[in-house]
Amino acid sequence: MKNFWKELNKPLITTTPMAGLTDSAWRQICKQWGADIVHTEFVSVDALYYGSKKTMKLLEYKASEQPVVVQIFGKHIDKYPKAAKLVASTGIAGIDINFGCPARKVAGHGGGVCLLRDMATVKQIVATTIDSVKIPVSVKTRVSIRKVQGKAEEGNITVLDFIKKLADLPIAAMIVHGRSYEVPFTGPVDLAMLKKAKAQFKSGPLLINGSFQTIESVVKDLEYTKADGIALSRAILGKPWLFKQIKEYINTGKYTEITWDEIKETAVKHAHLLWESKADQSFKEIRKHLIYYVKGHPETAKLRKELVVVNNPQDVEKIFKKL
Ligand SMILES: Cc1cc2nc3c(=O)[nH]c(=O)nc-3n(C[C@H](O)[C@H](O)[C@H](O)COP(=O)(O)O)c2cc1C
Repeated sequence: MKNFWKELNKPLITTTPMAGLTDSAWRQICKQWGADIVHTEFVSVDALYYGSKKTMKLLEYKASEQPVVVQIFGKHIDKYPKAAKLVASTGIAGIDINFGCPARKVAGHGGGVCLLRDMATVKQIVATTIDSVKIPVSVKTRVSIRKVQGKAEEGNITVLDFIKKLADLPIAAMIVHGRSYEVPFTGPVDLAMLKKAKAQFKSGPLLINGSFQTIESVVKDLEYTKADGIALSRAILGKPWLFKQIKEYINTGKYTEITWDEIKETAVKHAHLLWESKADQSFKEIRKHLIYYVKGHPETAKLRKELVVVNNPQDVEKIFKKL
C-alpha cells in the first residue's frame, strides 16, 4: 500500500499516538476491531539518532497492524534524516511528526506544540523528513497556541497559519486536536476551527481529534467539519469496539451493542498479546488498560483492585471468567 492515506475508504477512523498506551498489543486489538490506521506512541528523534535500544523497541510491530504510523518528535532538524530513514527501514507504513505535545519535557524545551512559535523550523523539519523517506509523512497538531507564553493579548498562532506556511509541501495527512495548548486535555474542541482547517488543507486527508462524546456526535462532527475522518484517543481505552460501532452507524444508521462476553474475550486476548510481545518484564503495563474494560460493571471498584495486581494472562483470565 503506497499511500494508504489516499487509498483507504473515507471516512477514516483511526487511533492517535498515546505515550505508554499505544503499544503493539493495543494496536493489534484496535486493528481487530476495525481501526483503519494505528499509531505508535511518540518516539524521540534524538534517541533514534543515537540508536537507543529502548527506543528501537518502540518501533516493533506485527504485520497484522499495518498500516502502522510511527510518530516522531524533536526540535533538532539535523537529526531528522537519520531518524526518519531508520524508521522507514523497519517496513513501517508511515511517519507522523508531532507538533502538538504540551508535556513539559517536550514543549518546555521548545519542542512539540511550542515549535508552532517557530514556523521556519517546523517547515524545515517537515520538508527534511519528506525528502528523507519514500513512505507518507503526516503531521499532528493542535488548533492554536498563544504567540507569547502567558500573554493573552498577543493573540494566537493557529492551525490555519500552520497549513498556510506548509502549503507547498506534500504532507500526506493531518490530524488536528481541536484544543489549544493552553487548555490541553479538557473541555470541548473548537469545531469551527477544525472546519476551517479542513477547508484549507489540500494535500491529503484531514482528521479531527479530541473530546469524543458519542457515536452519534462523531457523525454530526464529521458532517459539520467535512473532515476526512476522526482519530480516537482516550475514548477507545477499554472500548476498542467503537471503531466497528462508528463504522456500522455511518453505514446503516444504527450499531450493535457490545456484550460482556465480547468485552471479556477482548480483555483476555489483549493480555495474551501483551504477554507475547513483552512477556513478564513489562506485563504490568496491561493494568492501566484493564481497568478501562471494567468501567461500568456493577463491581468496578472491587475488580479494579484485583486488576491492578495481575502479573500474567492467567491472572487476567481468572478475574474475567468470574464476570
Ligand atoms: C496518556 C496520553 C498520552 C498521549 N501521548 C501522545 C503522543 O505520544 N503523541 C501525540 O501526538 N499525542 C498524544 N496524546 C494526545 C492524544 O493523541 C489526543 O490528541 C488527545 O488525548 C485528545 O483526544 P481525546 O480528547 O479524544 O483523548 C496523548 C494523550 C494522553 C491522554
